[in-house]
Amino acid sequence: MGDAEGPRPESLAEAFETLVDLRQEGLIRNLGVSNVTAEQVAEARGIAPIVCVQNMYNLAHRHDDDLIDRLATDGIAYVPFFPLGGFTPLQSEALSGVAARLRATPMSVALAWLLRCSPNILLIPGTSSTAHLHENIAGAGLSLSNEDAAELDGIGH
Ligand SMILES: NC(=O)c1ccc[n+]([C@@H]2O[C@H](COP(=O)([O-])OP(=O)(O)OC[C@H]3O[C@@H](n4cnc5c(N)ncnc54)[C@H](OP(=O)(O)O)[C@@H]3O)[C@@H](O)[C@H]2O)c1
Repeated sequence: MGDAEGPRPESLAEAFETLVDLRQEGLIRNLGVSNVTAEQVAEARGIAPIVCVQNMYNLAHRHDDDLIDRLATDGIAYVPFFPLGGFTPLQSEALSGVAARLRATPMSVALAWLLRCSPNILLIPGTSSTAHLHENIAGAGLSLSNEDAAELDGIGH
């Protein structure tokens, strides 16, 4: 509902109702919303059930912390876009420090942190490189200690 700057705080009813119509015609199975505020998520859910929200979220951009928790309680998936920072790749001493401790790469640690945030997080990190793909998949197998997680939490606060 917005642009690269983030969500535009306006009603999504007209656009969302078009999707609801397409769903009733059998052309769409499930509905989701993207680049939205918590208020717009509530507005959409007042019109029809949604299965997924896709918003910008990563170690450094934590605006949706509360929204993610609420969606998890209601069984709705959250897909962070720009999970690795998108056009401005994540860079942080704390991230590099934790990665060195785990003998992993910073990007795989950033993905492991996202997966640890909440059970409703669903990741689609973008890459054009097979080596990065393997690295990113390895993130799913990394286990972060509470100490690692606390250090990483500090990046976005
Ligand atoms: N709903 C929306 O409004 C919206 C907006 C933006 C994106 N999205 C979606 O969100 C998903 C992720 O977005 P994104 O791909 O733009 O952002 P991203 O996953 O945060 O970042 C992708 C960038 O990170 C690099 N990268 C990937 N793995 C890496 C690694 N292991 N080490 C170093 N660099 C690495 C990629 O370069 P290489 O190609 O060199 O690996 C690419 O430049 C996509 O599915 C996209 O379609 C949705």
